[in-house]
Amino acid sequence: MSLIVQAQGIHKRFGRLEVLKGIDFEVAEREVACLIGPSGSGKSTLLRCINHLEKINAGRLYVNGHLVGYRQRGDRLYELREKEIAAQRKDIGMVFQRFNLFPHKTALENVIEAPVQVRGENKTQARERGRELLDRVGLADKENSYPAQLSGGQQQRVAIARALAMQPKLMLFDEPTSALDPELVGDVLGVMRQLAADGMTMIVVTHEMQFAREVADKVMFMDGGVVVEEGPPDQVIVEPRHERTRSFLARVLNPNA
Ligand SMILES: Nc1ncnc2c1ncn2[C@@H]1O[C@H](COP(=O)(O)OP(=O)(O)OP(=O)(O)O)[C@@H](O)[C@H]1O
Ligand SMILES: [Mg+2]
Repeated sequence: MSLIVQAQGIHKRFGRLEVLKGIDFEVAEREVACLIGPSGSGKSTLLRCINHLEKINAGRLYVNGHLVGYRQRGDRLYELREKEIAAQRKDIGMVFQRFNLFPHKTALENVIEAPVQVRGENKTQARERGRELLDRVGLADKENSYPAQLSGGQQQRVAIARALAMQPKLMLFDEPTSALDPELVGDVLGVMRQLAADGMTMIVVTHEMQFAREVADKVMFMDGGVVVEEGPPDQVIVEPRHERTRSFLARVLNPNA
């Protein structure tokens, strides 16, 4: 099976603060990796490095066999130009905590924006595929609605459809349900479950442990800028080996204790 993501010794600093202190992991094609860990442990930073929204300070990061953001000549790395970076990003869909839809565009217009503007797809075809994608996320009847007319969960599902419209090889999710009212979380997780079942390669930062247990092939627990523990969900979530993992899980699973 081919590797979609390879991270080797990733270091990332913000000024003097070292946020990622040597991260290694791999995600194979069709695999779902869930990233868990306390606030400030570097989860979002790691996701942002994967599509070069943040530059790493050391290590190597490959997506689909290509070095992210750089070209290597001998031992030296040369940063790619903005245009080349944008081309790399087309293969990576990203869904954030806050749905960042264009407010003045309808659901369907949001979904077809990138295929038409970036890829130069024909508008009629893009619309047709956009409708299929909205159908896939359970929003076939909302194509003409504006974001303000949609619930948070519906907006988030439009955001997923929009990311899928670029036919990414990898989907990154950064706490996609944590800004939602509890009753809306299930619909979004349901769409993500289906996506995983359809074979999408995904990295998901989440506090939804039930989702991680059911959907993840591997779970990585990050704390203090390192991956403390990694393995199948039944090991990391159910029988964690490290005390730090145990105490984190106890807090997440039983926040009022
Ligand atoms: N652009 C930035 N400049 C300076 N420091 C930053 C920047 N982005 C993140 N940090 C710091 O890096 C650390 C890791 O942040 P990050 O957002 O990756 O954590 P996280 O694991 O995603 O946390 P959360 O669960 O709260 O989302 C934090 O201490 C944060 O303050
Ligand atoms: Mg975060």
